[in-house]
Amino acid sequence: MKVSGFSKLSKTAKIEWLIDNHFGGYEKARETLINYWHSDEKLQQIHDEFIENTLTNFYVPFGIAPNFLINGKNYTVPMVIEESSVVAAAAKSANFWFDKGGFKATVKNTIKIGHVHFTWDGDRFDLLQKFIISINQKFYAETHSITANMQKRGGGIVSIDLLDKTHDIPNYYQLEVKFETCDSMGANFINSCLEKLAEVLKSEIDSSSLVPDQIEVVMCILSNYTPECLVRVDVSCPIEEMVEGTDITAQKFAERFTLAVQIAETQPYRAVTHNKGIMNGIDSVILATGNDFRAVEASAHAYASRNGKYSSLTHAQIEDGMFNFNIEVPLALGTVGGITGLHPMVKFSHQLMGNPSAEELMMITATVGLAQNFSALRSLTTTGIQQGHMKMHLLNILNQLEATEDEKKVIVRYFTKNTPHHAEVVDVFRRVRGGEVLK
Ligand code: MEV
Repeated sequence: MKVSGFSKLSKTAKIEWLIDNHFGGYEKARETLINYWHSDEKLQQIHDEFIENTLTNFYVPFGIAPNFLINGKNYTVPMVIEESSVVAAAAKSANFWFDKGGFKATVKNTIKIGHVHFTWDGDRFDLLQKFIISINQKFYAETHSITANMQKRGGGIVSIDLLDKTHDIPNYYQLEVKFETCDSMGANFINSCLEKLAEVLKSEIDSSSLVPDQIEVVMCILSNYTPECLVRVDVSCPIEEMVEGTDITAQKFAERFTLAVQIAETQPYRAVTHNKGIMNGIDSVILATGNDFRAVEASAHAYASRNGKYSSLTHAQIEDGMFNFNIEVPLALGTVGGITGLHPMVKFSHQLMGNPSAEELMMITATVGLAQNFSALRSLTTTGIQQGHMKMHLLNILNQLEATEDEKKVIVRYFTKNTPHHAEVVDVFRRVRGGEVLK
């Protein structure tokens, strides 16, 4: 049955409704929700007000990866993620590269883009173009009240261009607007500017004799595709330093690693998993720092397809006895605004890294992506991925089996020597529970 006015109910009434309608009054379900409320009511209220219809909180682990040496500065990076092996992999990679000079990061650009999408009945593009140029100053003047503060920080509207898109859709045009949003991600700023620009466009065109034909604004919205908000990170070392800890030689490891990257560059099926691993690292930092992981994901994958075929975000070469590995990825991030000043753990994350600027955060985040990919390929091309992954996942399986702390200790020790598989863990657990003493 449809429920109406749900959002107007109190939190307790919403829980009552849910328990009655979806759990048949089951008391344990209510307890689950209430157990995750924060004991500090003020803090809970902040979380309640992030979204509509909040019932409780949803915990995801917050971990840290130390030893990230980036442009000579040593960072301890916060990571929020549920996948067992991600933080361990990042930390292992940071450790490996720390001793080889660390990561070299550069922000290539920080421009963000938005569009006023509109249709125009006229057929003289040159006239429309002339008209847009004639009202250019008005665009800047009318948005001044929105852009003034951003301008003080060195940002604002960078350019406004008219694009003819009639080859895609009849009568369809765009005002393409470029922005510099400094340390903020800038979504609200950009959208507010665009809506104001659309108002100006509409009112000026209505009163203009230059272009008598009608326009209709379809929508005003930023683009989450940010190929001009781009960061690059490099690592390199002499091939003989690619010593990895298994019996593979440094030369062989470097060669196999480079080939694995080449496979991801050319094979979309592999590229998706390869980039997913990169996003394990990137998303963890994005979540910990209160940024928009959906926007970053969408942009990264669009960027990975920019040449018409989905490909790797990282690249590797062996040149003159050196192993070189790099990532180039669009990251539209903010260190002010959004929930950065509101969520206590997000604030903590920023403090942990010394309250970085947005550019610094772009470099840190991309570095974790590169580090993550390094660890994944290191395992894949040597021991296989399951050894490290299952070692980390072992505790999840044991927790699911409700193993006691003593049982966990014994079983974890047992599996230090061999890669655990799910069925084997269950079997060993049953034996331990049954009283067997493991050798
Ligand atoms: C698992 O979350 C990520 C990996 O599959 C990435 C990769 O294959 O490169 C290990």
